[in-house]
Amino acid sequence: MSDTRTAPESETESDPGPATESPESPEAPQRSSLRGLLRLWPYVRPVRIRWGSAAVVAIVASCLSLVFPLVLKWIVDGPVADRDPGGVWLGAAALLVLGIVEAALFGFRRWLVARPLAGVEAQLRADLYRHVQRLPVAFHDKWASGQVLSRGTTDLMLIRMFLAFPLTFLIVNGTTILAGFAILLAQDWSLGLVLLVPVVPLMILLSVFEAKYALVARKAQDQVGDLTTVVEESVLGIRIIKGFGRHKAQSQAFRELSQELRGTELLKARLLAGIWAMITFIPEAAIGAALVLGTIQVADGGLSAGTLVAFLSTALALRWPVESIGFLLAMTQEAATATERFFEVMDAEEEAEDAPASSTPSVRDGLRFEGVEFRYPDAEPDSVPLLQHIDLHIRPGETLALVGATGSGKTTLTALVPRLHEATGGRITLDGRDITAMPRAELRELVSVAFEEPTLFSASVGENVLMGAGKEAGDAELRRALSVAQADFVHRLPEGADTQVGEQGLSLSGGQRQRLALARAVVGEPQFLVLDDPLSALDVHTEALVEAALRRVLEDTTALVVAHRPSTVLLADRVALLSGGRITAVGTHQELLRDSAEYAWLMSGERTHEGADA
Ligand SMILES: Nc1ncnc2c1ncn2[C@@H]1O[C@H](COP(=O)(O)OP(=O)(O)OP(=O)(O)O)[C@@H](O)[C@H]1O
Ligand SMILES: [Mg+2]
Repeated sequence: MSDTRTAPESETESDPGPATESPESPEAPQRSSLRGLLRLWPYVRPVRIRWGSAAVVAIVASCLSLVFPLVLKWIVDGPVADRDPGGVWLGAAALLVLGIVEAALFGFRRWLVARPLAGVEAQLRADLYRHVQRLPVAFHDKWASGQVLSRGTTDLMLIRMFLAFPLTFLIVNGTTILAGFAILLAQDWSLGLVLLVPVVPLMILLSVFEAKYALVARKAQDQVGDLTTVVEESVLGIRIIKGFGRHKAQSQAFRELSQELRGTELLKARLLAGIWAMITFIPEAAIGAALVLGTIQVADGGLSAGTLVAFLSTALALRWPVESIGFLLAMTQEAATATERFFEVMDAEEEAEDAPASSTPSVRDGLRFEGVEFRYPDAEPDSVPLLQHIDLHIRPGETLALVGATGSGKTTLTALVPRLHEATGGRITLDGRDITAMPRAELRELVSVAFEEPTLFSASVGENVLMGAGKEAGDAELRRALSVAQADFVHRLPEGADTQVGEQGLSLSGGQRQRLALARAVVGEPQFLVLDDPLSALDVHTEALVEAALRRVLEDTTALVVAHRPSTVLLADRVALLSGGRITAVGTHQELLRDSAEYAWLMSGERTHEGADA
């Protein structure tokens, strides 16, 4: 994600802790699922009253269903026994009213929770997005984008569904089951005990099931993340895929992953089917036993027919609450996994607090690297740092070209200035102020960047360029920046600077994008400019034009410019050679050509065809 984001923004720093690792192993420790879910409380808190009222409404509605058997008992023992049709009608009418009230209450519950829970989901998503934006580049280097994406979509949806449904119904059904058993035991305690017997084996089965299901659910959700990554990559890389005729291989990779996911989903379904079967069978066997015992008791005259009817219909009314526990727990487990995955991103190391805006007096000192050392977070701790003992001083208004073989760490070095990565040793100062002692927003206002990979966002050309400037910048600044970058092609676009570009808009050529990125870097007239090989995609003539214009900008800017070709090097006052992670030579182009064999060699490759105009 090395785009030319120059807009001031604060970022989060990450430690390469294990928590930021995209987890491969599906480990969802049972103990943490409840604790994990509890972490949602701050999000649920604002809607707790509405959610609580909805739960109470649902409990009332659900317990109403337990009144049906009591009415039945009254009908059987009263009007039916007395052969009183009027009484039967009255009972039937009461049942109808009960049914309508129950349905109305459930509808009311839905209405109560739907809107606030959509709000909770939106809040979770907003927080995730905001956090992801503030995570350091090192985090994004490490995490597959699909893993982040799937957390913002599938996982959040699972969480919302959990809050709307399983959470409520675990409570509702639990209460209903307790109330139901109280009624059963009150009617006939011996029959009630028969129904209570299966509770113990059911509990054991459920806890075994939950532990197994947790593992599979985690695996499935991680696989969704992997699948998202493949889809995203194949969409973004569609040109490469087509260009190399790789669509078969890509489809194959996709198929394999989706087969894996299918396997995991089937495993989930099998587990669920197993527990469902047990949860249905065991209570029904118990009800059967109670039926036999009850009938014997009625025959013996120890029990009224009405009581048996009521008893059995209560038991049957409890079937759904009991049976649903299996999939409610499954959904809860999925939500726990989703929550865990959500917080894995949210917990990714918060940045070391931004330094407060300090009043350190700044002197005109330019850009200074003092003993800077850098090692990527995922490098072996005892490996040789990628950059070490970097001492450089770019004087105010000076332009320094940074030259080095490919892979020598030039891009890495430039990324240290706007703190996209943090130097692991030494310090960098801007006008005498340590960059780590300034708020990031201020730092990024001072320093503008353009990277090798020019990224444009789905917005108009003008918006893309003005991203590099403060809010007050307008048309005049835009025109000036476009002219510096020799981006006159903009005026020939269908709607000029208002033309939409980026993923959702017009596709621009590599050189056109590079010039817009350059315009973005210079539009804010920054004091410090960091350009990473900004002219690589331009033809020689355009390059010459851009250079001429850039030379004027560079006159009053302190700039660090990564250069591969002699023509770009000539923009600079001095050149530094980066080799083996160190600055091995500093001087003018001519001096280095004379004194450094490596420099001469690096430049000579270009000389054969471009040396003449240089
Ligand atoms: N995010 C990263 N994590 C770990 N290593 C990285 C990361 N980015 C780059 N590297 C490694 O750091 C080294 C220097 O990379 P860098 O991009 O700074 O080189 P460069 O000098 O800009 O090369 P080029 O001239 O090709 O642009 C490379 O070996 C690269 O593999
Ligand atoms: Mg580079």
